[in-house]
Amino acid sequence: MSGNDIDVALIDPILQEFKEQKGAVIPILQRTQDIYGYLPEDAMQEISKKSGISISQLYGVATFYAQFNLEPRGRHLIQICDGTACHVRGAPKLVEAVEGQYNLEAGGSDPDFQYTLEIVYCLGSCGLAPIALVDGQVYGNTTPDSLVENIKELD
Ligand code: FES
Repeated sequence: MSGNDIDVALIDPILQEFKEQKGAVIPILQRTQDIYGYLPEDAMQEISKKSGISISQLYGVATFYAQFNLEPRGRHLIQICDGTACHVRGAPKLVEAVEGQYNLEAGGSDPDFQYTLEIVYCLGSCGLAPIALVDGQVYGNTTPDSLVENIKELD
């Protein structure tokens, strides 16, 4: 369920553009996500209805590729590594600090969709543990206070 009203007419130009290209599922989904920030259920239904691509194929692709989101995401993406090295060096405290500061839970977003918090597992830089990424920027050897400060500086 989407629960959000979206203007599905915005998808028409995308479907028009890829009308002649069979199998253009990925670019259609990419462009749709560019519009809404994620792939709302209503948009998926609309794509299926107008393109003839089955809904199961659309969801198959959308769930296979990590680039696609089926839920709305915050403006900023905070990722905290909870691989073994980061875990023993304090990742749970980072998670706690971000959850407390922004009124969200790991795997979710705050009520205003400013921030989304994701837990990831080993980014391959264990020497910098614990690590967080904020909008793709790496913060190594971070502490709860410094991470919260770095996030505050975003706006
Ligand atoms: S465990 Fe976090 S970078 Fe390896």
